[in-house]
Amino acid sequence: SPDQLRRIEQLRQLAKEKNAVILAHYYTRPEIQEAADFTGDSLALSEKAAQTDADIILFAGVHFMAETAKILSPDKKVLLPDPAAGCSLADSCEASAFAKFLERYPGYTVVSYVNTSVGVKALTDICCTSSNAVEIVRSLPVNAKIVFAPDRNLGNYIQSVTGRDMVVWDGACHVHEEFSLEKIIELKKQYPEAKVLAHPECKKPVLLVADYVGSTAALLNYATQSDADTFIVVTEPGILHQMAKDNPSKRFIPAPPSDSTCGCNDCSYMKLVTLDKMYAALRDETPEVVIEESIRRRAERSIRNMLAAKR
Ligand code: 13P
Repeated sequence: SPDQLRRIEQLRQLAKEKNAVILAHYYTRPEIQEAADFTGDSLALSEKAAQTDADIILFAGVHFMAETAKILSPDKKVLLPDPAAGCSLADSCEASAFAKFLERYPGYTVVSYVNTSVGVKALTDICCTSSNAVEIVRSLPVNAKIVFAPDRNLGNYIQSVTGRDMVVWDGACHVHEEFSLEKIIELKKQYPEAKVLAHPECKKPVLLVADYVGSTAALLNYATQSDADTFIVVTEPGILHQMAKDNPSKRFIPAPPSDSTCGCNDCSYMKLVTLDKMYAALRDETPEVVIEESIRRRAERSIRNMLAAKR
């Protein structure tokens, strides 16, 4: 809308004045993605956060993503527009409980999905995201015993692809766990030619009926490369904005959750980020992500190890 365009313009102007970079995840609202300097998946966003020479990183995403940016760029000011933007998956693995869990697995290599708190990253040998998890696990010695946290669906999927010896923490993303296999199959009957694209945080039965499983960036890339013209998209529907933008002639159908009258499966945390909150955060330079230095340094190693590994 013209009002949104005006607010995007104001935000971009302020970012220019303050030498700020705006990073947005694919799950944020369409207008946020349009306002950003860069929109990407978790891995690409952490790479950008490590490379930028901006003074301020305005992070349109959830807390662990902004925290990862701060871990990588401690001298920069990292702003999170709404401090309540958390993550059910990161919350499903609390650092002290994880430390206790690890006592049962001495000598194991700890691989953590980036959707974790700084406290869990400090206990981790190497991080991964959904776009590099297979490569990260395969980069470890074949006889390595692995603890994988916190997503049980991604962990079990990676275990099935790599055949590695893995113990998987029992956590999950409430959005991805909500998708209904029954409704996906109904959609598939309605659109028999459609390709089913699923994020690996979905439950196994959903992954088994998917034509393609991958991170948000990988799903976007698959849709763009594919000859098919209809896609049932089984991840947070924010990604549909870029899919439709890059492929105006193709049809993208968001998969519904099992219990929904609106048929949508938004991540309520991601949707907390609004243009108004972003503008206020940048103007007032708060809320800022702050991390105690000793824990930051311990957590940094696990992310640097990931960034150094081949993608
Ligand atoms: P990717 O960004 O790796 O696709 O993961 C999505 C996600 O779970 C964000 O919380």
